[in-house]
Amino acid sequence: MATKKLSYAERMKWFHEARFGMFIHWGLYSQLRRGEWAMFVERIPKDEYARLADKFNPQKFDADAWAGLAAEAGMKYMVLTTRHHDGFCLFDSQASDFTSVKTAAKRDFVAEYVTACRKAGLKVGFYYSLLDWRFPGYHNRKKYPESAKAMVEQYHAQVKELMTNYGKIDVLWYDGGWLFGMDPADMAKFWGARTVNAMVRSLQPHIIINNRSGLNEDLDTPEQHVTASKQGRGWESCMTIGDSCGWGYIRNNPNMKSVTQLLQHLVFAAKGAGNYLLNVGPKPDGTIRKSERIRLKAMGDWLKTNGEAIYGSEYNAALSGGMIGEWTVKGTTGYWHIFRWPGREAVAANVASKVKSATLLATGKKVKFRQEHNGRLVLTGLPKSPPDLHVSVVKVAFEGGPRAVKERDPAKWLEGEGPEAR
Ligand code: GLC
Repeated sequence: MATKKLSYAERMKWFHEARFGMFIHWGLYSQLRRGEWAMFVERIPKDEYARLADKFNPQKFDADAWAGLAAEAGMKYMVLTTRHHDGFCLFDSQASDFTSVKTAAKRDFVAEYVTACRKAGLKVGFYYSLLDWRFPGYHNRKKYPESAKAMVEQYHAQVKELMTNYGKIDVLWYDGGWLFGMDPADMAKFWGARTVNAMVRSLQPHIIINNRSGLNEDLDTPEQHVTASKQGRGWESCMTIGDSCGWGYIRNNPNMKSVTQLLQHLVFAAKGAGNYLLNVGPKPDGTIRKSERIRLKAMGDWLKTNGEAIYGSEYNAALSGGMIGEWTVKGTTGYWHIFRWPGREAVAANVASKVKSATLLATGKKVKFRQEHNGRLVLTGLPKSPPDLHVSVVKVAFEGGPRAVKERDPAKWLEGEGPEAR
């Protein structure tokens, strides 16, 4: 039976509504406790590194605990490193012996992860690194062309396995498609990414593929910063909770972002109709450290009250948060996320639409307001202190939806004679 080809918008629908996901970097490197790049950065020889697999037998690994935490955090999907740049697979593979199934653990962690995601009602994402440091041909393509070829073949075979053996997969999150001194178009050619991605789509017609195989595909992936793509294009900012140098477990990682900071990033993503993929680096035994759990749970608590301002948000080009925060929008509603609580009054400028009502999400109480010249929307009678410790949100219902004042003469506001607010 022929199935109708899904449009981009149809494929992206759940993702667009999700806004918040969990990234997980976990593998052999977790045992080194200094991030996932140690092998390369410290030039650990291949065989020496491979010995880590003899000790990798994480008895406390519990995929349900991961998925449960993600759900509690208000996340709607997960993306797990099925294989990072070190080439070690957390899944069963015919194309490699360097897997968790064929070494000490004797477990297919990817299979357990997929089952847990589904059980928790989360969408399933696979991170997969095209490059594999163990191949001389990655580091020196000219000198070791056969090795480079073998690495490419491994990529084709393993992506096929991942797309065939685990049921429905929602996101294919490529990484490591880069090759030194190559531009993206040549990268895609080197990897044969077009062929692989066509195969992926034939096996998983609804899948979302990111832009790191040298092809644009469905999703932009700003890393460690929240920057919106142009309206209509899918994007997702990935970020670590700790310092930017490592995504895998780092034993002493003192510089963790605060819950407030993390929520502000999430708001920025939602403002630009993008997602926030927040990373955790579980310990070598598979458990997630307390400092990460606490933050995620606090974000989940905030989302319980304020989630309507985040999930399914649309691109906001109309409302400016001014000095104190940011707006997200959905339909005819605007949500003013106030980061720096101003006290009794809050002022937004250039609001053209008539306001029907304003409500503080933290308390459910109506907020008084007036609309003045220059599109000034003044909220009054607000509590003196921020009603939400992290980000306080005022929900504003607009007649006909949020529109901005058009300042034809940008000097007119000085006289208070700018366009009326309605
Ligand atoms: C980078 C890093 C990698 C990490 C990824 C996450 O590409 O190489 O370690 O997995 O970013 O986006």
